[in-house]
Amino acid sequence: MKKVLVATEKPFAPAAVTQIKEVLDKANYELVLLEKYTSNADFLKAVEDVDALIVRSDKVTKEVIGAAKNLKIVVRAGAGYDNLDLEACTASNVVAMNTPGQNSNAVAELALGMMVMIARGNYSGKAGTELKGKKIGIHAYGNVGQLVAKIAKGFGMEVYAFDPFKNKKDIENDGVKVLSSVEELYSSCQYISLHIPANDKTKKSIGFDILNKMPKGATLVNTARKEVINEEELLKLFAEREDFRYVSDIAPDCKDEIAEKFEGRFFFTPKKMGAQTAEANINAGVAAANQIVNFIENGNTTFKVN
Ligand code: 3PG
Repeated sequence: MKKVLVATEKPFAPAAVTQIKEVLDKANYELVLLEKYTSNADFLKAVEDVDALIVRSDKVTKEVIGAAKNLKIVVRAGAGYDNLDLEACTASNVVAMNTPGQNSNAVAELALGMMVMIARGNYSGKAGTELKGKKIGIHAYGNVGQLVAKIAKGFGMEVYAFDPFKNKKDIENDGVKVLSSVEELYSSCQYISLHIPANDKTKKSIGFDILNKMPKGATLVNTARKEVINEEELLKLFAEREDFRYVSDIAPDCKDEIAEKFEGRFFFTPKKMGAQTAEANINAGVAAANQIVNFIENGNTTFKVN
């Protein structure tokens, strides 16, 4: 009997676990559950004899791959796979996958939710501003970016995008204006919604110079990764631009300094919660389980990222 470990430091909603189990039961696979673990040693122990692994943002390091002697496949139930050591996976003949698009709506709704919140002074009761008529720039027009664009249009925002990897016509077909550089995007929009992945090229790539191009009333919305921000330069911008505001799904490392000096100009979720809805958990978790069964039974490698 094949064993599938679901290792989630931040657990799926119970309904998602039930549905993952149903998929695995049908295939006659055993589900092993490791939730809310607090030590890496527990993860290393649990992974020892499993054939497949489902994780969220849990770090699948070289050590984890080394400990998982029977592992054939790891699926990151979500979009960003910067938590997987792909080299280690490949070296050990482990297929790595993600489940693109499955949790995007939850993330997009949070992006707009945080925008309304900051525009209304974090619901402090003070007079705020509206999103209607404002310009939003979508930095990377992937699954989440596309949904943010759609919802932002519902708010009556003017939507712009920059994505060098996407076909211009496809973006324009969504009623979104395509700009030709990052600089143009940031100079044009009061709101920037970040959807770039965290990799060697993008880490710390969003800093003072690019953010300072934003017009008055600048608000940066980050539901991507905190690592893409240059935090030293972020603090400099906060200090120099009184109009600048930052909302982010997971606090930056410099959150205490921001909280101390720039009250009312930020909002940070206490834990990464963009994808933390029952619906997103079910979609991503069930997709992960199906991808595992489909790979083991039929050799299907759709969504392989290594
Ligand atoms: C993703 O990359 O899919 C999101 O950041 C969600 O991450 P999570 O599964 O840890 O909530």
